[in-house]
Amino acid sequence: ASFLVLHGPNLNLLGTREPGVYGAITLDQINARLLEQAQRDGHQLQALQSNAEHQLIDRIHAARDEAIDFIIINPAAFTHTSVAIRDALLAVSIPFIEVHLSNVYRREPFRHHSYFSDIAEGVICGLGAEGYAMALQAAVRKLEQN
Ligand code: DQA
Repeated sequence: ASFLVLHGPNLNLLGTREPGVYGAITLDQINARLLEQAQRDGHQLQALQSNAEHQLIDRIHAARDEAIDFIIINPAAFTHTSVAIRDALLAVSIPFIEVHLSNVYRREPFRHHSYFSDIAEGVICGLGAEGYAMALQAAVRKLEQN
């Protein structure tokens, strides 16, 4: 199967960004682990980080033409603001899992609302980088079941 991992704004700074909240792992390390996990099971995986909303939207549109089977997305701050990315995911109707490194419910009230959770296959938050690996594992299982 073919997986797309999308990372939203400021996640390029992982490793140095508020390590008490987000951990010490870098985005390259997260992506490398996911790629290894996917390839081990014979799957394909691509990843994109962007600080720009339109780039994430364009990538989601392209995913439909590329027949991406499943998306794993950490929309970062766009979680709480972006009707446009939500609409892009609905438009392509590719199933996705929403991931957050931090437990957003333990943080500021503005982080408690997500524009994605009600249309996601599942949501993982507060488990750090491990959450991405769990999401990929769950996505593989879901596809196998279908
Ligand atoms: C985040 C949580 C968001 O509230 C925040 O804006 C981020 C990262 C997380 O992974 O914990 O940038 O999505």
